[in-house]
Amino acid sequence: MKLAVIGTGYVGLVTGTCFAETGNQVTCVDIDERKVEKLNNRIIPIYEPGIDILFNRNVDEGRLRFTTNLADGIKDAEVIFLALPTPPGEDGSADLKYILKVADDLGPLLENYVVVVDKSTVPVGTAERVREHISRNTDREFDVVSNPEFLREGAAVDDFMKPDRVVIGTRSERAKAIMNKLYAPLVRQGNPVIFMDERSAEMTKYAANAFLATKITFMNEIANLCELVGANVDDIRRGIGTDSRIGKRFLFAGIGYGGSCFPKDVQALAKTAKDFQYDFKVLKSVMAVNNYQKTKMIPLIKEHFGGDLRGKCFAVWGLAFKPYTDDIREAPALENIRILLEEGAKVTVYDPEAMDNVRNIFGNSIHYAHTQYAALDDADALLIMTEWPLFRTPDFDKMNLLLKNKLIFDGRNVYELDQMRETGYTYYSVGRETVNAVVTAPAS
Ligand code: UDX
Repeated sequence: MKLAVIGTGYVGLVTGTCFAETGNQVTCVDIDERKVEKLNNRIIPIYEPGIDILFNRNVDEGRLRFTTNLADGIKDAEVIFLALPTPPGEDGSADLKYILKVADDLGPLLENYVVVVDKSTVPVGTAERVREHISRNTDREFDVVSNPEFLREGAAVDDFMKPDRVVIGTRSERAKAIMNKLYAPLVRQGNPVIFMDERSAEMTKYAANAFLATKITFMNEIANLCELVGANVDDIRRGIGTDSRIGKRFLFAGIGYGGSCFPKDVQALAKTAKDFQYDFKVLKSVMAVNNYQKTKMIPLIKEHFGGDLRGKCFAVWGLAFKPYTDDIREAPALENIRILLEEGAKVTVYDPEAMDNVRNIFGNSIHYAHTQYAALDDADALLIMTEWPLFRTPDFDKMNLLLKNKLIFDGRNVYELDQMRETGYTYYSVGRETVNAVVTAPAS
């Protein structure tokens, strides 16, 4: 099939590349000339494991190309995907200006019947608005379909090629048949393509992300309670996760969820509820708890150092909002670093992928280490903010030589408590007892 993908951000690039891989002819369109030039020179602007192989193969074989020209990009396309940004507005609702602008531009360019697909996460009712904007400028036949993506950063290629399910919102039989044909190679293992109306498909995406954010937040609150009652949240996770009604995944307590999706989507769904005069109490709590959770280690750190962090040096391992990405949007590490600096502390950071992005924010106000060990040199404590596998089995002897104190604040529960007891480290984590606890005398 001939496809166009408008927007070469994260979702657009993965969608375009993966559909080229299943044999379609894909043109990706973006207004950003520098980005398109880079893509034409095979420079991939996102970090995503596995995408480079697919990208290069499909460019080589002429199935994947990039242009800034919308008319050229959509020429003869049977399906046009809209993968455009929907940034949160001041009130938390998703801003549709990019999507509706493209919808306005598409109308005059349409020739044959085409399926226009909303791939971005958009509020309920957007498919209807896109349809209305396109039809302002054309009397050609077209359908607008809602087809939300459920990609996880760091696993996006795999998620796209082997989706748990594909959700397609349309009442048009013609559009259904085309979308079915397009997704057939990806659901051969038997996972379903689920058809529904446009509004339900739009709502499905928000419900999925809000549910997962709630699941994590619930565990974070259980963890907070575990700390008070002297229980271990790891055991609780194992104990409840084996119940198939609950499931093992997304039960990991820590310093909160971040990223480009959960915070934005929970906020947007809460705003939708408000617009319809519905008081969605669970979502409000999820947002409040996650805000608290992100910096919950700070009071512990302050208490440990007798309330004064001036002149203290902290090594931070992990900056990205989760492992296998360079994405730092809403990453808990950022807020923690900000507070440490405000408190007069010095910070040295290390992350396998996200250093450049963090440099753009903090500049020279913090130090950047080339390795995880270099970050520890002369530090008063280590803070773990992202659970990169690299941090799971460090050389503790080497760490002892570098760190001033045997002291770790772990926001991601990377180590087992028994292991930490043996190393002799004072080890604070989330929802578990503090190991080898000692309180340093207040600064004189
Ligand atoms: C998410 C959804 O999973 C995906 O389906 C949707 O399309 C986009 O949003 P992503 O933002 O890439 O994907 O990250 P995800 O792996 O879901 O993690 C989100 C956040 O939750 C991360 O900050 C992660 O650290 C945190 N998390 C996840 C936990 O704190 N505990 C867990 O058990 C799982």
